[in-house]
Formats: sequence, C-alpha cells, structure tokens
Amino acid sequence: MGSQKTFTMLKPGALQRRIVGEILTRLERKGLNLVGLKLMTIPRELAETHYGEHREKPFFSDLVQYVTSAPVVAMVLEGEEAISRVRLLCGATKVDQAQPGTIRGDYATQTQLNIIHASDSPESAEREIALFFDKNELYAFEDGNAEWF
Ligand SMILES: Nc1ncnc2c1ncn2[C@@H]1O[C@H](COP(=O)(O)OP(=O)(O)OP(=O)(O)O)[C@@H](O)[C@H]1O
Ligand SMILES: [Mg+2]
Repeated sequence: MGSQKTFTMLKPGALQRRIVGEILTRLERKGLNLVGLKLMTIPRELAETHYGEHREKPFFSDLVQYVTSAPVVAMVLEGEEAISRVRLLCGATKVDQAQPGTIRGDYATQTQLNIIHASDSPESAEREIALFFDKNELYAFEDGNAEWF
C-alpha cells in the first residue's frame, strides 16, 4: 500500500460526447485526488512516444491518428494504490470484455475508441506523467482544509 500518482487521459470521444464530467465524477468518488488537469491536442510525436510499446501493432497508426484528432483531457490522479485502482475503474481494454460498472464497460462502443487511458505500472505512470506535465503543472492536494469549504 501507499500513495501513488497515475496518468489518465480521456480520449477525444469523451469530450465530443460530453461525458468528461461523468467520468471525472467516478474517479473523484473513488477518493482519488486530482493533482493535474488540462485540455490539450496531442502532437503526433508525443502520441507516438506515449504509445511507443505498440509501435509494431496493426492498430498503432489508427490509434495515434485517433488520439491526435481532437482534444483530450490529460490528468494526474493521486491516492492509495492509484495505479491499479484507476485501471480497475477503467475496465478491460476490449470493449466486449469490459464489465458493466466500469468506465469502458459503461461508455465504450469500440476497442479502438475505448474512452480512457490509464498508466499500467509505476514505471509507465512516472514516464507518462513526465511526458504530459511539467512539474509546475502538478499541485499538492490539501485534504479537507475547512477554510476552503
Ligand atoms: N486489438 C485492438 N484493436 C484496436 N485497438 C486496440 C486493440 N488493442 C488495443 N487497442 C487500442 O490501443 C490502446 C492501447 O492498448 P493497451 O494494450 O495498452 O491497452 P490498455 O492499457 O488497456 O489501454 P491504454 O494504454 O489506452 O490505457 C487501447 O486502449 C485501445 O485504444
Ligand atoms: Mg496501455
């Protein structure tokens, strides 16, 4: 156990379908702290680096094309076991295997367009956070500071 940071990205379909708020709500309700958040269009080179492990896969160029085609919501979430917990909330990669109750299970209609990305290990979380966020774009989360309520 321990607090971790993880990188999560709502793919272009989430913004276009106006379900960004619903997805963020699910992540916040699980107790995850939002410590970084931005809307951005991903440059092709960044998308290729981010998904570099899939360079040889048949879906690679379509995947890069998709995630660079319209703005995404990039975020960093923090919390106990955040990396595996966010993956669990996302659900399985393949649309027909994603369980109802998970984000992909409830919203995704195609595997290629499966709504959300989340880091899959501490190494990928560290790498992806550094790819998408400058240090000064990440904030400390102050839990329950009553002066701000
Ligand atoms: N068989 C496939 N056909 C089409 N697209 C696929 C396929 N497998 C994966 N993808 C796309 O590539 C992305 C990266 O695949 P990966 O195997 O890393 O799954 P993941 O870790 O669940 O997803 P992500 O990395 O986006 O969080 C998937 O989210 C999906 O958009
Ligand atoms: Mg992955």
